[in-house]
Amino acid sequence: TKKIIVTIDGPAGAGKSTVARAVAERIGLPYLDTGALYRAVAWKLNKEGIAPDEGERITKALASFNLELRPGGLCADGADVTAAIRTPEIDRIVSAYAARAEVRDALTGLQRAQAANGLVADGRDMGTVVFPEAELKIFLTASAEERARRRYRERRARGEDVDYDEILKQVVERDSYDMTREIAPLRPAPGCIILDSSDMDAEAVTDAIASLAVEFM
Ligand code: C5P
Repeated sequence: TKKIIVTIDGPAGAGKSTVARAVAERIGLPYLDTGALYRAVAWKLNKEGIAPDEGERITKALASFNLELRPGGLCADGADVTAAIRTPEIDRIVSAYAARAEVRDALTGLQRAQAANGLVADGRDMGTVVFPEAELKIFLTASAEERARRRYRERRARGEDVDYDEILKQVVERDSYDMTREIAPLRPAPGCIILDSSDMDAEAVTDAIASLAVEFM
């Protein structure tokens, strides 16, 4: 089998990471969650009191930032941040950091370096910027209401006290920020397949993408 690259981009809550992880396992390729990398950088810069508009401080902080990818997790400067990067606070601040060239340049290089054995990567600019040569590019979307509903259920299941309208508002805000930024905005890549998962469960989406992917292997 060939070591191919599959990219899955789309707005918040479309189910990208669940599906990308399942597709990777199904077709035997590594999985790369690039949202987690942006979240880890936001966590680090926020912790050091560096604001998104402090370009020089960002460059300096990232030069000594030690980000380690682990199967199913992430270590930042030696600490396991897998849970710490999935908080409402990080949700709120991550996009402002992700809009910065200093941040994107650092993470784009790191992402490309993971692709030697092929991979399934999910994010916002996988098909447009990081892996434009990917064999298969998917743009996975769903209605904002459905995406907010999924987030709501996830959070409730974790025992968090959440408000649906608040989640819907945040999801819409984060998407619009990601779609309108100057560098690597969220948009369907040329040649991508657009999948609307509003009426599909994760299993059905996984089946659809995996069967497209094996055609290239
Ligand atoms: O996918 P996830 O919701 O974890 O992504 C968090 C944020 O990281 C996104 O809202 C976006 O601002 C940023 N991101 C990005 N490019 C990627 C992946 C994530 O800008 N490839």
